[in-house]
Amino acid sequence: MRPSAVSFVAGPQGEWRIERIVPVRGAPLAAAPRLARIEGELVRPPSAWVLHGVRTHERYTESAERARLSGVQPPLGRAECTQAALIPISKSEAWWDLAQDERRAVFESRSKHISTGLEYLPAVARRLYHGREIGAEFDFLTWFEFAPADAAGFDDLVERLRKTEEWRYVEREVDIRLSR
Ligand code: HEM
Repeated sequence: MRPSAVSFVAGPQGEWRIERIVPVRGAPLAAAPRLARIEGELVRPPSAWVLHGVRTHERYTESAERARLSGVQPPLGRAECTQAALIPISKSEAWWDLAQDERRAVFESRSKHISTGLEYLPAVARRLYHGREIGAEFDFLTWFEFAPADAAGFDDLVERLRKTEEWRYVEREVDIRLSR
């Protein structure tokens, strides 16, 4: 896929109301009332903060996994999905120093990121953006949408991922919960 930009703008306006901002590891982000997810542009309007990223090609997903995912993964924007999470993440230099096969081994062979995540589809819709390549504040911006009835399941998923070997390489993470 061709890379395309995204800007998450926190401030007085935006489709999503910010319910809480929890710094999980590392520096926090400032409080703000609302969040706008602006696809296709790197904008920097006056705001509490702006996070930039790009949608880009997959790094770790193998073809069988992609087939399984595309069979169950729902689109963003479903009417019943009135809750969302924006979880910006950065990984350590130790992660980026690994070879590609070592990162894949940590990510899926040992941490089971994709196979665990698949258990929570189609309840959770997701989109991954990369920030590292454009010198952004976070290496990744992860975005999720779900219905209120699936919020507890989403919390369970996040808790499981945070216990994995992959998360030992996470050096900054902020958990932002939203509703509309
Ligand atoms: C909802 C179920 C989930 C599924 C099916 C899923 C699936 C995936 C897949 C397939 C990738 C690899 C993309 C590639 O090949 O480059 C990925 C990457 C990633 N996911 Fe998830 N994921 C889920 C939930 C989560 C959650 C809840 C978080 C954060 C708490 C998260 C954080 C990340 C991060 C940071 C990456 C990038 C890893 C890297 O490139 O080092 N994911 N996910």
